[in-house]
Amino acid sequence: QVKRTTIPQLMAYKGQRKIVSLTAHNSAFARIMDAYMDFILVGDSTAMVAYNHPNTLSITVEQMAAHGAAVVSATRHAAVLVDMPFGSYQESPEQAFRNAARILAVSGADGVKLEGGEALAPTVRFLVERGIPVMPHVGLMPQYVNTMGGFRAQGMNDAAAERILADARAHESAGAFGLVLEGIAEPLGRRITESVAIPTIGIGASPACDGQVLVTEDVLGLSGERVPKFVKRFADVETVMRGAFQSYAEEVREGVFPGPEHCFGIKPKEPRE
Ligand code: KIV
Ligand code: NA
Repeated sequence: QVKRTTIPQLMAYKGQRKIVSLTAHNSAFARIMDAYMDFILVGDSTAMVAYNHPNTLSITVEQMAAHGAAVVSATRHAAVLVDMPFGSYQESPEQAFRNAARILAVSGADGVKLEGGEALAPTVRFLVERGIPVMPHVGLMPQYVNTMGGFRAQGMNDAAAERILADARAHESAGAFGLVLEGIAEPLGRRITESVAIPTIGIGASPACDGQVLVTEDVLGLSGERVPKFVKRFADVETVMRGAFQSYAEEVREGVFPGPEHCFGIKPKEPRE
């Protein structure tokens, strides 16, 4: 009987061992990665990698909850966190609680992640005090794509770096159990990690963070040629898939597949001695 990793366990890993995470939105990927991950993130990057949207803005609470349910049902070891989608939490702490509770009720996930700086700290506190673990995401926040005018590294001057450090500290004080740090330089990633007692999970935020997360499609070579600088491709699964699809198509067209062993009512020939 494997017991699923808990939020307090993740918190206790800080300073003890690195925390490992990837994204998933479907049951097959989640099942296969489960044993290797401390937590799995059902990211709103699902809008891009599963629905081919240009950014993360256009995905709903019900979609995130459904993808979360697929991931939870296929896993038993890793904790599962679900991203709160754009527009589902910024209005008020009450709105955030209602939607976070819906996501947890439908999916069975362990906690939620939301993007925002110090302005969102009261919302984090509101959720945490009502039983919802929250991991805020600071630095490069993809839901702010329209205010940033694209995706670019954040905190690259002293004032901007101080701002992000203040965001991180505000979330820690509000009761966040961890932080995602995205798209910041090594000195800031290190400084935040050393300044807070909760684990920092980096994506493009240097090895100084307490853990790392990436989008699984990027790691597997399933997201095309253009990937962010911080991505490392650990496999070329697209080439493996192309090979399988091409072989299948050829065998169907040539009448090789299905063979007798795939047909009902035809006994395959016994191999000869
Ligand atoms: O949506 C996402 O995948 C994320 C990451 C931190 C990878 O927020
Ligand atoms: Na996200």
